Amino acid sequence: LRVLSVASEAVPLVKTGGLADVAGALPAALAPHGVALTTILPGYPAVVAALKRAKAVHAWTDLLGEEARLLAGKIAGHPLLVLDAPHLFQRDGSPYGDAQGRDWEDNWRRFAAFGRAAADVAGGAVKGLAFDLIHAHDWQAGMALAYNRFAPVSAPLPGVMTIHNMAFQGYYDARIFRGLGLPKAAWAMDGVESYGGVGFLKAGLQAADAITTVSPSYAAEIRLPEFGMGLEGLIANRGGDVTGILNGIDAAEWNPASDPALARTYSAKTLAARKANKRALEAEFGLTKDDGPLFIVVSRLTWQKGMDVLPEVLDHLVGLGGRLALLGSGDGAIERELHRAAARHPGRIGVRIGYDEALSHRMQGGGDAILVPSRFEPCGLTQLYGLAYGCVPVVARTGGLADTVIDANVAALAAGVATGVQFSGVDYPAFAQAISRTIALYADKPAWKRVQANGMAGDFSWGPSGKAYAALYKRLIEARS
Ligand code: ADP
Ligand code: GLC
Repeated sequence: LRVLSVASEAVPLVKTGGLADVAGALPAALAPHGVALTTILPGYPAVVAALKRAKAVHAWTDLLGEEARLLAGKIAGHPLLVLDAPHLFQRDGSPYGDAQGRDWEDNWRRFAAFGRAAADVAGGAVKGLAFDLIHAHDWQAGMALAYNRFAPVSAPLPGVMTIHNMAFQGYYDARIFRGLGLPKAAWAMDGVESYGGVGFLKAGLQAADAITTVSPSYAAEIRLPEFGMGLEGLIANRGGDVTGILNGIDAAEWNPASDPALARTYSAKTLAARKANKRALEAEFGLTKDDGPLFIVVSRLTWQKGMDVLPEVLDHLVGLGGRLALLGSGDGAIERELHRAAARHPGRIGVRIGYDEALSHRMQGGGDAILVPSRFEPCGLTQLYGLAYGCVPVVARTGGLADTVIDANVAALAAGVATGVQFSGVDYPAFAQAISRTIALYADKPAWKRVQANGMAGDFSWGPSGKAYAALYKRLIEARS
């Protein structure tokens, strides 16, 4: 069974968020289930540079009006295809915008071309490459399914659309439709048209045979206006085709027993060894050295992540004897509030603005608890890393956070199954109370250790979810034949 996985980022080559972790992990997750997954990525500078010796296996003279090439290489030992189109992707900045964070104005053309290319490749336009199914991730890949449906190179393949975040939809003015090279029939409610414009995610959802998102709770939530962001009607209508398949984590990357980023590696049996990592983290963030609770945050600094509420609870957190080490970047106003809180509480709050993969590992390995106060969270990976590392997650009860953390309520503590702390509603009272509960739990050493060990004993591997994707692929392929 051969699947083309269409994604705009994948570790270890390009990452702005959890999508990259997931796209990067899928090939290994699917291989044990008889699925050969090939990833196709846009040719950003770092991706093309990593494929230095790759050969071009195909050339387009007219990919939405321009020339482009297809490079073939490997990503973590699995097959990788790269759309080398320098006029679209050879740019400094992020995959989606310039260094100042402004989206590229021609993103519609960049990701339409990417989708067109992916549909061509999947449909058999490249000699020696054949596929049975297309799996598209997020709006950047949505058009692959639309081209496959409305302008395929051969018989359309079955398609899966995975929603990693409903908040980003790739919505553009109706005028771009002419530039997409699609037949008129595609301009329809059940095609690419969305609220009078063109919606790339919407187009992918309409063209998909099955829709998945990255947790069961988020799959239910996106039927509601608050989470569906305008596409709740479509999701509700496609109800039977929508499922939630929880993300796993890559145990080779995220394992405290072998993590090279840590000062001291450890397991659930040697939790005391975490202390060395805590001391190292305190030093790194200029925090006082003590045995009180050390909270961490590793996050995009955005409204989705509840990071505007975080600065409000910090006086409370410090007042109860807590400290915070934060790593993140994003919204400038939030960054300023965090710096202000750090200035109010020297030695108690340390803020690092930026992106640092190794530091994020050291934080999970040395922090006592990780705060994840998201307003919505399709899956969330940092709470899973926290669970695996004995860094107890304190999370808002939403989406994948609700599905992966067992709240330390009275019943769960009595049954000995709690793995973290959950709270409802991302506002000061609820968040502050969750911090109070966490600090009280931390003071009860045996109970805290149990919560840490419970989390570490959990199975966050890709095993069950790899199996679920494989079963879905097989069902869709059989339905076509
Ligand atoms: P999202 O994709 O919505 O940002 P996830 O929790 O799914 O949220 O994934 C975020 C990923 O990015 C995790 O692997 C997390 O460790 C990483 N991450 C986020 N911010 C930073 C940062 N500033 N430095 C290093 N890693 C970060
Ligand atoms: C998105 C979501 C996040 C999820 C990730 C990977 O970035 O915001 O919750 O974990 O995709 O699926």
